[in-house]
Amino acid sequence: MSMILSNFWNFLMPMSAVVSPLDPKCNYYQELAMGELYYIFNNEYPRNYTAGYSCQWIAKSPLRSQIFLSCEDLNMPKSSNCQHDRLEISSSGPKHLSESHTYCGSGSVSLILQGSTLSVVLRTRSRSQGGRFLCAITAIESNIESDQSFDIPMADRGCNCGWKNDKKITGGHETKVNEYPAMVGLVDANRRIYCGGTIISNTYVLTAAHCVHNRDASTLYVQVGDHDVSTGDDTPYSALYKVVDYEMAEGYNPITYEGDIALVKVNNINFNENVGPICLPFRHSFNNYAGNFVTALGWGQLEFSGRPSDTLQEVDLEIIANEECEQSALEPIPNSEFCTYTSGKDTCQSDSGGPLLWQNQSNGRLFIWGIVSHGAGCGSLSPGINTRVASFLKWIQDRTGQFFCVL
Ligand SMILES: *[C@@H]1O[C@H](CO)[C@@H](O)[C@H](O)[C@H]1NC(C)=O
Ligand SMILES: *[C@@H]1O[C@H](CO)[C@@H](O)[C@H](O)[C@H]1NC(C)=O
Repeated sequence: MSMILSNFWNFLMPMSAVVSPLDPKCNYYQELAMGELYYIFNNEYPRNYTAGYSCQWIAKSPLRSQIFLSCEDLNMPKSSNCQHDRLEISSSGPKHLSESHTYCGSGSVSLILQGSTLSVVLRTRSRSQGGRFLCAITAIESNIESDQSFDIPMADRGCNCGWKNDKKITGGHETKVNEYPAMVGLVDANRRIYCGGTIISNTYVLTAAHCVHNRDASTLYVQVGDHDVSTGDDTPYSALYKVVDYEMAEGYNPITYEGDIALVKVNNINFNENVGPICLPFRHSFNNYAGNFVTALGWGQLEFSGRPSDTLQEVDLEIIANEECEQSALEPIPNSEFCTYTSGKDTCQSDSGGPLLWQNQSNGRLFIWGIVSHGAGCGSLSPGINTRVASFLKWIQDRTGQFFCVL
């Protein structure tokens, strides 16, 4: 903890001018500079606060910004409706953009608040057993194209996603058995893997809308934990789940492929070291991805690829800017898509609907940045066009109503 504390050079300064029923010694006020990180935490952090304590932190963000707030460490007593100890997070700004949220218990939470003024209030009851919290806030440029507000309510502690079983041989293109626990195949009535997909929770798999469009859900299956689809005994983790239902993004356009993303629902996938969820890019939703490399995975069953592969293949691809992509793709690339292009790399090794994974080099976790949508033919010179998952995070949350890790 002392290491983290030494980074607290930017914490909010006490504000003496605030008149409020709260303890005057713990009202804080800060004007945020764009992109700077600020921390909010109980005064005793990392120790617990004491009982009967109330504090307020107010932060004002610059014009045309949003506030990204991430509380990595909330550890407070839990009570129904958080009627005892509670953290109240609210924002105010233009009328329809105001929101408020209340938290207690332990876990973590991330929000993007649309308002220009953030208020965080800690209220603890007089007989509280104590607790603590640590949040980081940053003013980020408000992105008109992604006017989504996130509310990832209380991710569970021990939340895990995006791990990789590193058993890779350099130079090889075939993945190792169960190297990517989140990778799945969509299986049709002929027991053939025809598209890729990615596990995001026990009950949901993310894929491309065109992989499910016009298909009867009751004929589809999700193949998890597999590697060599020609044999049943290369991995004991391989399992087939019946698709319960699917839902395509509203506004999916089968002609232009805009909004090419779908949620596939299955009954409780059993997680283990070799089968588990990918991380969603909550922290990368406003990133410009150009210049980054992502890994595409697939069994190579793209419709224009003559020769599917029995074993799961991977290929690293570079993300290019949308403007650059438009010039060679000869079609408009909206913000909800991004392109990959790496000369000489065969993108038909990637299945439609399969993931484009970005790895955080410092913790090794894999995040799903894209879903292979359309564009690249085998060995073709044109870029691959992919759905930008970050543009659909709010939709994913709304439709699944689930908790996701924010790592
Ligand atoms: C700190 O607070 C947490 C959450 O309420 C509680 O579980 C824990 O026992 C407290 N620790 C101490 C040392 O009081
Ligand atoms: C990568 O992981 C490190 C360590 O967990 C974290 O501090 C950092 O914010 C992560 N970077 C991104 C872009 O997610």
